[in-house]
Amino acid sequence: MSNDTLTIALSKGRIYKDTLPLLAAAGITPVDDPDTSRKLILDTNHPDVKLVVIRAADVPTYVQYGAADLGVSGKDVLMEHGGEGIYEPLDLGIARCRLMVAGRPGATDRAGRLRVATKFVNTTRRHYAAQGRQVEVIKLYGSMELAPIVGLSDCIVDLVDTGNTLRANGLVPLEHIADISARLVVNKASMKMKSARVKDLIRRLTDAVVTAI
Ligand code: ATP
Ligand code: PRP
Ligand code: MG
Repeated sequence: MSNDTLTIALSKGRIYKDTLPLLAAAGITPVDDPDTSRKLILDTNHPDVKLVVIRAADVPTYVQYGAADLGVSGKDVLMEHGGEGIYEPLDLGIARCRLMVAGRPGATDRAGRLRVATKFVNTTRRHYAAQGRQVEVIKLYGSMELAPIVGLSDCIVDLVDTGNTLRANGLVPLEHIADISARLVVNKASMKMKSARVKDLIRRLTDAVVTAI
Protein backbone atom coordinates (compact mmCIF):
# COMPACT_ATOMS: atom_id res chain seq x y z
CA MET A 1 0.00 0.00 0.00
CA SER A 2 0.94 3.68 -0.06
CA ASN A 3 4.20 4.86 1.40
CA ASP A 4 2.73 7.00 4.17
CA THR A 5 0.25 4.35 5.34
CA LEU A 6 1.11 1.44 7.63
CA THR A 7 -1.17 -1.50 6.81
CA ILE A 8 -1.63 -4.38 9.24
CA ALA A 9 -3.27 -7.65 8.06
CA LEU A 10 -5.39 -9.61 10.52
CA SER A 11 -7.94 -12.42 10.27
CA LYS A 12 -11.42 -12.26 11.77
CA GLY A 13 -12.22 -14.36 14.80
CA ARG A 14 -9.72 -15.32 17.49
CA ILE A 15 -6.68 -13.57 15.96
CA TYR A 16 -8.56 -10.27 15.68
CA LYS A 17 -10.09 -10.63 19.14
CA ASP A 18 -6.78 -11.53 20.83
CA THR A 19 -4.71 -8.95 18.91
CA LEU A 20 -7.03 -6.06 19.73
CA PRO A 21 -5.83 -5.58 23.36
CA LEU A 22 -2.18 -5.73 22.23
CA LEU A 23 -2.80 -3.13 19.51
CA ALA A 24 -4.67 -0.98 22.05
CA ALA A 25 -1.70 -1.16 24.42
CA ALA A 26 0.47 -0.11 21.47
CA GLY A 27 -1.82 2.90 20.95
CA ILE A 28 -3.83 1.64 17.96
CA THR A 29 -7.61 1.23 18.15
CA PRO A 30 -9.84 0.45 15.16
CA VAL A 31 -12.68 2.80 14.35
CA ASP A 32 -14.81 0.10 12.66
CA ASP A 33 -15.82 -3.31 14.00
CA PRO A 34 -15.26 -6.14 11.49
CA ASP A 35 -18.16 -8.14 12.99
CA THR A 36 -20.70 -5.45 12.10
CA SER A 37 -19.04 -3.67 9.18
CA ARG A 38 -18.66 -5.10 5.68
CA LYS A 39 -15.57 -2.93 5.14
CA LEU A 40 -12.38 -4.87 4.46
CA ILE A 41 -10.07 -1.93 5.25
CA LEU A 42 -10.65 -0.62 8.76
CA ASP A 43 -9.65 2.86 9.82
CA THR A 44 -7.93 3.32 13.18
CA ASN A 45 -7.41 6.24 15.55
CA HIS A 46 -4.24 6.94 13.50
CA PRO A 47 -5.15 8.23 10.01
CA ASP A 48 -2.01 6.60 8.62
CA VAL A 49 -2.57 3.13 10.16
CA LYS A 50 -5.11 0.80 8.52
CA LEU A 51 -6.17 -2.74 9.31
CA VAL A 52 -7.09 -5.18 6.54
CA VAL A 53 -9.26 -8.11 7.59
CA ILE A 54 -8.69 -11.24 5.51
CA ARG A 55 -8.75 -15.05 5.74
CA ALA A 56 -6.16 -16.42 8.18
CA ALA A 57 -4.34 -18.43 5.51
CA ASP A 58 -3.99 -15.33 3.29
CA VAL A 59 -2.14 -13.15 5.84
CA PRO A 60 1.42 -14.32 4.91
CA THR A 61 0.65 -13.81 1.22
CA TYR A 62 -0.49 -10.19 1.74
CA VAL A 63 2.63 -9.50 3.80
CA GLN A 64 4.99 -11.35 1.42
CA TYR A 65 3.87 -9.19 -1.52
CA GLY A 66 3.78 -5.96 0.50
CA ALA A 67 0.01 -5.52 0.19
CA ALA A 68 0.22 -5.29 3.97
CA ASP A 69 3.34 -4.02 5.78
CA LEU A 70 2.69 -6.13 8.84
CA GLY A 71 0.39 -8.97 9.83
CA VAL A 72 -0.62 -11.30 12.62
CA SER A 73 -0.52 -14.94 11.66
CA GLY A 74 -0.57 -18.34 13.38
CA LYS A 75 2.73 -20.23 13.33
CA ASP A 76 0.80 -23.11 11.71
CA VAL A 77 -0.08 -20.85 8.78
CA LEU A 78 3.49 -19.51 8.56
CA MET A 79 4.96 -23.03 8.56
CA GLU A 80 2.61 -23.97 5.75
CA HIS A 81 3.36 -20.80 3.77
CA GLY A 82 7.13 -21.16 4.08
CA GLY A 83 7.91 -17.60 5.19
CA GLU A 84 9.36 -16.26 1.92
CA GLY A 85 9.70 -12.44 1.94
CA ILE A 86 8.62 -12.23 5.56
CA TYR A 87 10.30 -11.44 8.87
CA GLU A 88 8.84 -12.91 12.04
CA PRO A 89 10.12 -10.57 14.76
CA LEU A 90 7.72 -11.24 17.62
CA ASP A 91 5.81 -14.11 19.25
CA LEU A 92 2.56 -12.48 20.42
CA GLY A 93 1.78 -15.41 22.75
CA ILE A 94 -1.89 -15.48 21.70
CA ALA A 95 -4.02 -18.14 19.94
CA ARG A 96 -1.92 -20.86 21.52
CA CYS A 97 -2.51 -24.46 20.48
CA ARG A 98 -0.59 -27.47 19.16
CA LEU A 99 -0.29 -28.90 15.67
CA MET A 100 -0.77 -32.64 16.03
CA VAL A 101 -1.33 -35.90 14.24
CA ALA A 102 -4.60 -37.38 15.54
CA GLY A 103 -6.77 -40.36 14.80
CA ARG A 104 -8.40 -43.39 16.37
CA PRO A 105 -6.13 -44.93 19.04
CA GLY A 106 -3.24 -46.75 17.31
CA ALA A 107 -4.19 -45.41 13.87
CA THR A 108 -0.59 -44.75 12.84
CA ASP A 109 0.85 -48.03 14.20
CA ARG A 110 0.19 -50.12 11.12
CA ALA A 111 2.84 -50.70 8.46
CA GLY A 112 2.54 -49.22 4.99
CA ARG A 113 1.47 -45.97 3.47
CA LEU A 114 -0.69 -43.83 5.77
CA ARG A 115 -3.47 -41.66 4.40
CA VAL A 116 -3.39 -38.31 6.17
CA ALA A 117 -6.15 -35.70 5.74
CA THR A 118 -5.22 -32.08 6.48
CA LYS A 119 -5.24 -28.49 5.35
CA PHE A 120 -1.52 -28.35 6.28
CA VAL A 121 -0.24 -30.38 3.32
CA ASN A 122 3.30 -28.95 3.15
CA THR A 123 3.90 -29.26 6.89
CA THR A 124 2.49 -32.79 6.87
CA ARG A 125 4.75 -33.87 3.99
CA ARG A 126 7.75 -32.36 5.78
CA HIS A 127 6.85 -34.04 9.09
CA TYR A 128 6.62 -37.52 7.56
CA ALA A 129 9.59 -36.99 5.22
CA ALA A 130 11.70 -36.32 8.34
CA GLN A 131 10.52 -39.69 9.70
CA GLY A 132 11.23 -41.36 6.35
CA ARG A 133 7.60 -42.52 6.25
CA GLN A 134 5.55 -42.77 3.05
CA VAL A 135 2.21 -41.01 3.30
CA GLU A 136 -0.61 -40.04 1.00
CA VAL A 137 -1.74 -36.53 1.90
CA ILE A 138 -5.38 -35.61 1.22
CA LYS A 139 -6.05 -31.86 1.14
CA LEU A 140 -9.10 -30.65 3.09
CA TYR A 141 -10.23 -27.12 3.93
CA GLY A 142 -11.80 -27.77 7.36
CA SER A 143 -13.61 -30.24 9.65
CA MET A 144 -10.58 -32.54 9.43
CA GLU A 145 -11.84 -34.55 12.43
CA LEU A 146 -14.51 -36.09 10.21
CA ALA A 147 -12.05 -37.74 7.81
CA PRO A 148 -10.98 -40.75 9.95
CA ILE A 149 -14.57 -41.34 11.09
CA VAL A 150 -15.91 -41.75 7.58
CA GLY A 151 -12.85 -43.70 6.37
CA LEU A 152 -11.43 -40.94 4.20
CA SER A 153 -8.08 -41.19 5.99
CA ASP A 154 -6.18 -43.09 8.70
CA CYS A 155 -5.34 -39.92 10.58
CA ILE A 156 -5.36 -36.14 10.39
CA VAL A 157 -2.97 -33.28 11.02
CA ASP A 158 -4.86 -30.50 12.79
CA LEU A 159 -4.75 -27.95 15.59
CA VAL A 160 -5.56 -29.09 19.11
CA ASP A 161 -6.25 -26.79 22.04
CA THR A 162 -8.51 -28.27 24.74
CA GLY A 163 -8.84 -31.60 22.89
CA ASN A 164 -12.64 -31.26 23.02
CA THR A 165 -13.09 -31.57 19.25
CA LEU A 166 -10.97 -34.72 19.11
CA ARG A 167 -12.75 -36.28 22.10
CA ALA A 168 -16.20 -35.44 20.73
CA ASN A 169 -15.30 -37.41 17.61
CA GLY A 170 -13.63 -40.41 19.26
CA LEU A 171 -10.12 -39.37 18.23
CA VAL A 172 -6.91 -39.04 20.25
CA PRO A 173 -3.70 -37.06 19.76
CA LEU A 174 -0.98 -39.35 18.37
CA GLU A 175 2.07 -37.20 17.50
CA HIS A 176 3.09 -33.68 18.42
CA ILE A 177 4.35 -31.64 15.43
CA ALA A 178 4.72 -28.10 16.82
CA ASP A 179 3.64 -25.68 19.53
CA ILE A 180 1.66 -22.89 17.88
CA SER A 181 1.03 -19.24 18.73
CA ALA A 182 0.36 -16.13 16.69
CA ARG A 183 3.34 -14.16 15.39
CA LEU A 184 3.82 -10.59 14.22
CA VAL A 185 5.11 -10.73 10.65
CA VAL A 186 6.67 -7.93 8.62
CA ASN A 187 7.25 -7.47 4.90
CA LYS A 188 11.02 -7.40 4.27
CA ALA A 189 10.90 -4.26 2.10
CA SER A 190 8.67 -2.42 4.62
CA MET A 191 11.19 -3.21 7.35
CA LYS A 192 13.75 -1.18 5.32
CA MET A 193 11.57 1.47 3.65
CA LYS A 194 9.38 2.25 6.68
CA SER A 195 12.02 1.28 9.20
CA ALA A 196 11.38 3.89 11.91
CA ARG A 197 7.60 3.37 12.05
CA VAL A 198 7.75 -0.41 11.76
CA LYS A 199 10.41 -0.70 14.45
CA ASP A 200 8.50 1.67 16.72
CA LEU A 201 5.39 -0.52 16.37
CA ILE A 202 7.41 -3.71 17.02
CA ARG A 203 8.81 -2.08 20.18
CA ARG A 204 5.35 -1.05 21.38
CA LEU A 205 3.90 -4.50 20.71
CA THR A 206 6.86 -6.16 22.43
CA ASP A 207 6.15 -4.05 25.54
CA ALA A 208 2.45 -4.96 25.30
CA VAL A 209 3.28 -8.69 25.12
CA VAL A 210 5.69 -8.49 28.06
CA THR A 211 3.07 -6.62 30.12
CA ALA A 212 0.37 -9.15 29.16
CA ILE A 213 2.40 -12.10 30.53
P1 ATP B 1 -10.95 -19.74 8.38
O1 ATP B 1 -11.98 -19.41 9.41
O2 ATP B 1 -10.63 -18.61 7.47
O3 ATP B 1 -11.14 -21.04 7.69
P2 ATP B 1 -9.13 -20.62 10.43
O4 ATP B 1 -10.03 -21.68 10.89
O5 ATP B 1 -7.69 -20.99 10.20
O6 ATP B 1 -9.56 -19.89 9.11
P3 ATP B 1 -9.13 -19.40 13.02
O7 ATP B 1 -9.88 -20.57 13.55
O8 ATP B 1 -9.53 -18.03 13.45
O9 ATP B 1 -9.16 -19.38 11.44
O10 ATP B 1 -7.62 -19.66 13.37
C1 ATP B 1 -6.63 -18.66 13.25
C2 ATP B 1 -5.38 -19.13 13.95
O11 ATP B 1 -5.66 -19.31 15.34
C3 ATP B 1 -4.85 -20.47 13.47
O12 ATP B 1 -3.99 -20.30 12.36
C4 ATP B 1 -4.13 -20.98 14.70
O13 ATP B 1 -2.83 -20.43 14.75
C5 ATP B 1 -4.98 -20.44 15.85
N1 ATP B 1 -6.00 -21.41 16.31
C6 ATP B 1 -6.85 -22.14 15.56
N2 ATP B 1 -7.65 -22.91 16.30
C7 ATP B 1 -7.32 -22.66 17.60
C8 ATP B 1 -7.79 -23.14 18.87
N3 ATP B 1 -8.77 -24.03 18.95
N4 ATP B 1 -7.23 -22.63 19.98
C9 ATP B 1 -6.25 -21.72 19.92
N5 ATP B 1 -5.74 -21.24 18.75
C10 ATP B 1 -6.27 -21.70 17.61
C1 PRP C 1 -10.03 -25.32 15.65
C2 PRP C 1 -9.27 -26.52 15.08
C3 PRP C 1 -9.87 -27.71 15.81
C4 PRP C 1 -10.29 -27.10 17.14
C5 PRP C 1 -9.37 -27.53 18.23
O1 PRP C 1 -11.28 -25.19 15.04
O2 PRP C 1 -9.40 -26.59 13.66
O3 PRP C 1 -10.98 -28.25 15.13
O4 PRP C 1 -10.20 -25.66 17.02
O5 PRP C 1 -9.69 -26.93 19.46
P1 PRP C 1 -10.05 -27.82 20.74
O6 PRP C 1 -8.92 -28.79 20.91
O7 PRP C 1 -10.15 -26.83 21.85
O8 PRP C 1 -11.36 -28.51 20.46
P2 PRP C 1 -12.08 -23.81 15.14
O9 PRP C 1 -12.66 -23.64 16.49
O10 PRP C 1 -11.18 -22.73 14.66
O11 PRP C 1 -13.24 -24.04 14.10
P3 PRP C 1 -13.17 -23.96 12.49
O12 PRP C 1 -13.51 -25.35 12.05
O13 PRP C 1 -14.18 -22.95 12.14
O14 PRP C 1 -11.79 -23.56 12.09
MG1 MG D 1 -10.41 -22.39 12.85
